[in-house]
Order: sequence, then C-alpha cells, then structure tokens
Amino acid sequence: MLIIHGGTPLEGEVLVRGAKNLVSKAMVAALLGTSPSVLRSVPAIRDVEVVTGLLRVHGVDVELDGDTLYMDPTSVESAGVEEINVHAGTSRIPILLCGPLLHRLGRAFIPDLGGCNIGGRPIDFHLDALRKFGAVVEKSADGTHLSAPNGLHGIRYELEYPSVGATEQVLLTAVMAKGTTELRNAAIEPEIIDLICILQKMGAIIKVHTNRVIEIVGVDELKGYSHRALPDRIEAASWASAALATQGSVFVRGAQQADMMTFLNVFRSIGGAYEVDDDPVEGGIRFWHPGTPLKPVALETDVHPGLMTDWQQPIVVALTQADGLSIMHETVYENRFGYTSELRRMGANIELYSDCLGGTPCRWGRRNFLHSAVIAGPSKLHAADLQIPDLRAGFSHLIAAMAAEGTSRVYGVDRYITRGYENFEAKLLGLGAKIERPAPASAQLASRD
Ligand code: EPU
Repeated sequence: MLIIHGGTPLEGEVLVRGAKNLVSKAMVAALLGTSPSVLRSVPAIRDVEVVTGLLRVHGVDVELDGDTLYMDPTSVESAGVEEINVHAGTSRIPILLCGPLLHRLGRAFIPDLGGCNIGGRPIDFHLDALRKFGAVVEKSADGTHLSAPNGLHGIRYELEYPSVGATEQVLLTAVMAKGTTELRNAAIEPEIIDLICILQKMGAIIKVHTNRVIEIVGVDELKGYSHRALPDRIEAASWASAALATQGSVFVRGAQQADMMTFLNVFRSIGGAYEVDDDPVEGGIRFWHPGTPLKPVALETDVHPGLMTDWQQPIVVALTQADGLSIMHETVYENRFGYTSELRRMGANIELYSDCLGGTPCRWGRRNFLHSAVIAGPSKLHAADLQIPDLRAGFSHLIAAMAAEGTSRVYGVDRYITRGYENFEAKLLGLGAKIERPAPASAQLASRD
C-alpha cells in the first residue's frame, strides 16, 4: 500500500529504459541462438525477473550487470513441468517460448498464462498458427504440451486481428522453420519491428511488406545478438499524462518522438505542451501543462499506428480535467474500463457504454461490452482508498491520487506496478510527489510502547 498526499504538481526528470513489451520478447529470442546474446537498456521490472526464471529453468545462463543482460543459451535443456509451473499465472510471455523450444528441443511445455485481466485474452491465434507450422498441441490439467514430430514448416497465414503476441509467435517460429512463411494482417508495433531487427541481427531473413504482410524465409541456424532495446513508450506516456493531470512539467529522458507520434498529437489536442530534445544520449521529451484549460477530445484506441490501448488509462485521468465532454472508444480489449469505477469514487464524471461511440464500429459493438467511455470534465478529484486492478490502470490510479486533493491509500502497488514500471517510487519522489509507505506493523507497535 502506498500513501499519496495529492495536489502537488510533478516537476523534474525521469529516465525511461527499454520497453517491457520488447525486452521480454528479446529475451525469448535469445533462446534461438547458438551463441550468447547481449541486451542493453533492460529495466529492473518483475516481468524481466519472470522471463529470467523461465530461461534459467531451460538451461540458459542469464546474468544482469547494471542494465545489461547477458544470456548464454548454448546448454538449453528441457525443464520439468513443476519447475516451469512455478511461473504459471505470472505473465503472458511463456506462450512465446513455444517456437524457440520446439526448434531447440523438439518439445515444449507452457504453463497457464497470467497478465492483466482486461478481457478474455484467448490464445487461439497462437495455437492455430503453431498447429499449421506442424506442432502437436495437447492441453492438460497442468498446462499445454507441444511437440513437433515432423519438424516445423513455413506457412501462409492470415490473422483474424493484428494481434501483437500472435505476430511475435509466428516470427519466433518461422525464422527457423523449413521454407517461407507469409503472415498477413500482422501487427507492426514499434516493439515488433525492434524484435525483427534483433532476429535479423541473429541471421534471420524477414521482409516487412506493405499492407501488414510479413514474409519470413526460414534459416537453419541463428547466432546470438547484441542490441539496445527501444525505449518504453507506454511508460513515457504515463509520465506525460501525470505531468498534465497534476499541472506539472516532466522531462522524460529516453522518450523517442517517432514511436510516440500518435500520443503526441493527442497530448497537444488536449492542450498539453511538449518539446522534443533529440540528443542521442541525453535527449527525451519534456511534457508540461501550459496553464490554460485542457480541451475535450474524441479518441479511440487501435493497433499501431493508432492510439495504443495502454495509453488509454492515463489519458482518461488527464481528460477528467478537460473542460467539456470527451469520448474514449476502446477497440483493442473488451474489458479495459474497470478502473473507472475507482475514478468515479474520486469524483470523476465517467459513464460507460456498450455502443461504439464517436468512431468506427469495432468487434465489441452490439456485444454488450462496456467499451466506450464519456468523460465530463473538469472534475475536482478528491482522495480515496483505491484498489489497483491491473498494471496500466494501476498507474492511472496513482496519477489520479497525485492530482486529487487529500490523502489517498493505493493498494496493490507491489503486485501490479512493479511488473512494468522500474523504480517508480524513487521516480515519483524525485518529481516531488508526496508519497510514503505505511510504517511496518512492528515499528507501529514499538512507537505505541
Ligand atoms: N487475441 C485473440 N486471440 C489471440 C490473441 C489475441 O483474440 O490468440 C485478441 C485479444 O483478446 C485482444 C487483441 O487480440 O482483444 C489484441 O491482443 P494482442 O495479442 O495484440 O495482445 P498481447 O500480445 O496479449 C500485448 C501487450 C499488451 C498490449 C497489447 C496490445 C505484451 C506482453 N503485452 O499483449 O500490453 O496491451 O499487446 O498492444 O506485449 C501491458 O503492457 O500492460 C499490456 C497489457
């Protein structure tokens, strides 16, 4: 639990390291190499610890030195169900080990997946593609067992929806499958392009064509890579939104304009100000509230190059301070507005609808999912006791508590926020946030004596 005394503008600088949603996949890619890989700008977050554990049980030697990760996969070996299952329910990354483990060992076991509870999050695209590559998939009570008795062969495959994870699954499997793979309707998020750069360094042949078509020519062997992870554009946008909601000014060192163009357009439309410093080492983007009223906007989330679904929650908090009616239509996940009930308890005026409001009809329309939000602002937020439901919503609760008047207690920070935000408490303190941890029970007793 974190105690937050709100009402103080956040002012100062934070450093954003490599993207959680690239680093974890880059670690999986290292499994495909016959020699060691080096990954730089690795953030100290729990998802990295989880994948480290998964690699280690498969015989990969993983060492972290500062923010550089060394991974030696030369002695990859099968792991027992029990040691793999220690990582069940902790993240969504285990599903991506299928292809690499099938190539290296001929079989794989995948535990039940975890990750944020923001919708059904099926893995049907993953398993369907793996079967077409030639994998035999058997579900059991303890997880999913896979084998490839006849090896893996290139496929022509079209995704029903440009899923990030399923695109990565196909990439990580196709690079060493026999023959050529053509993936249609692929996701092309910057983290996926960075993963493709890594695989290319390892020796893969991957062509990104127009219209979301990716062609992969399978090769017999891949070697290790050396790579600097692209910066975390979700974390950068979270700090930007925190600056806006608290009427502050935050320089996000490491943030890159090219990957954040859509967010920057939204930030400016709302009335936020930013300035890009493109120095390759010390550069970043400064975000601030210019002191004039924020403007309402109609937005919808989408796959890249649209507005990221992970930017939605911090933007909604900032929109509670805009002068008028804003709309947010969530088209990626069916259930990503659960966190707004806590914001309502803080005084925000947010209503949810199952219609596709203000934009294009999406998969969730007419299916009774509350996936559009109307935000009427500006609202004076007041302190509350908040329970964090997931990673991104959790950070938006922190932002709301910092923008609110009074003292809030936010529960669940260690369970959720540490999964994806490096050193967030130190960063908040550095920006002048008034936060504290409750004294441990033993200290409280001692002070009563
Ligand atoms: N989908 C299916 N079937 C599948 C796979 C996906 O129907 O087999 C659907 C999902 O249910 C969802 C949509 O496709 O409605 C998009 O899901 P996607 O596969 O793109 O998401 P993901 O790969 O599971 C990654 C990030 C998420 C991020 C999404 C969208 C990681 C570890 N997670 O998830 O990040 O929101 O892409 O950009 O990369 C986060 O960082 O907090 C986070 C949730």
